[in-house]
Amino acid sequence: MSAAGAVQTRFTLSEQQARLLAAQFGTPLYVVSEPHLRSRIRAFKESWPGDVSYASKANSTLAVIKIAHAEGCTIDVASEGELRAALLAGVPASECRLHGSNKSLAELAFAIDSGIGKIIVDCLEEVDRIASLGTSTPLVLRVAPGVDPKTHAKISTGQVDTKFGFPMSKALAAVEACMGKGLNLTGFHCHVGSQLLDPEAQILGAEAIAGLAIDALHAHGLRTSYLNVGGGLGVRYTGEESPMEVHEYCGAVLDVVRQKLDGRLDPVLGMEPGRAIIAESGVTLYEVGVVKEAASGRVYVSIDGGMSDNPRPALYGSEYELAWHPSGTETRTVTVSGKHCETDTMFKDVVAPVGVKPGDLLEVLSTGAYNSSMASNYNRLPRPATVLLRSSGNPEVVQERETWDDLFRREVVPQGL
Ligand code: LLP
Repeated sequence: MSAAGAVQTRFTLSEQQARLLAAQFGTPLYVVSEPHLRSRIRAFKESWPGDVSYASKANSTLAVIKIAHAEGCTIDVASEGELRAALLAGVPASECRLHGSNKSLAELAFAIDSGIGKIIVDCLEEVDRIASLGTSTPLVLRVAPGVDPKTHAKISTGQVDTKFGFPMSKALAAVEACMGKGLNLTGFHCHVGSQLLDPEAQILGAEAIAGLAIDALHAHGLRTSYLNVGGGLGVRYTGEESPMEVHEYCGAVLDVVRQKLDGRLDPVLGMEPGRAIIAESGVTLYEVGVVKEAASGRVYVSIDGGMSDNPRPALYGSEYELAWHPSGTETRTVTVSGKHCETDTMFKDVVAPVGVKPGDLLEVLSTGAYNSSMASNYNRLPRPATVLLRSSGNPEVVQERETWDDLFRREVVPQGL
């Protein structure tokens, strides 16, 4: 439940909606609200004067990408697969930006042949690969500004010890390498981490790449025309978090970049939020199957999904806010586990109605980001369907539940085995 007085910005279902959706589409079910998603994107578009590039790794369902693009976002893709998703969603390649810390030659060639808008270059090997393809595609150098964001270690990327981007100390040499090979270098990028509730690291990162743009102007005469400060703005998961509002966050980053550039350069400013666009627009519905008291006295409520549809509790110890249907004023403490064949605790020691029972529904809030895109088939569980709740109020399936045929389509049992 929300902490008293906490701001509620997240999409939630009414009990009746939850019942109807579960009955019509089954569980586990990802549900995304179209009006909520559109309003999150508009908040960014209204607060940021340049390029808002939706980081599609957060949720690359085609309908979600299409909405982001229709609302004026370009699309950040981190692999050929994500680029193919954007293209299938009808986004021109020219409005996509290709990321990746180990892009293969084939992946780069596919992106360039498709007409990719920008490639965010991560390392010197990539400079060579791009040069070998003889392209004038606009390039952007990703640098690690050496700032330590306050977030989970697994989603920190801007610190000194990172696999991502060029160390700041080697950035000017990378500029020289690109220019020496006649490549179309347009600017710089950094992304310091994800689920950041304190924007300090993002502000320092943005300041650092603006400073680098000035240094590159002086050292190599490079007139930066594109500067991208990455994504990372945090969201409300449990109701305890209070991330900066979008307009405040954008304003703070813009201020520091403009101050640093001091009118000497006037690049298009880019950012690439993923989670902050889609997380709070999505919920997941599960059905309770078992309520069991262990010898320890702990009450386990087992749901019909788990780490295969949301690996974040297992990977990062992530916590979520829950809504039970039916709800109840009298409550007890339970631990929600998934149905996987291991100790897959999803939500430990949380509040549930005292009468929680098989057939009840559990709604998990803020699951629009990094759930469907990180889902697996562990224990051969089919991945859930995604329903888009349209602005009209109608639910439409935008990603089908996996079928048994889907699950076994790739398998070949050799003759005579
Ligand atoms: N740009 C780059 C270069 C990134 O690496 C990322 C995220 C983003 C943008 C978008 O970041 P966001 O605005 O969504 O924080 N699976 C993890 C998150 C990994 C984030 C990876 N990079 C999770 O579930 O928390």
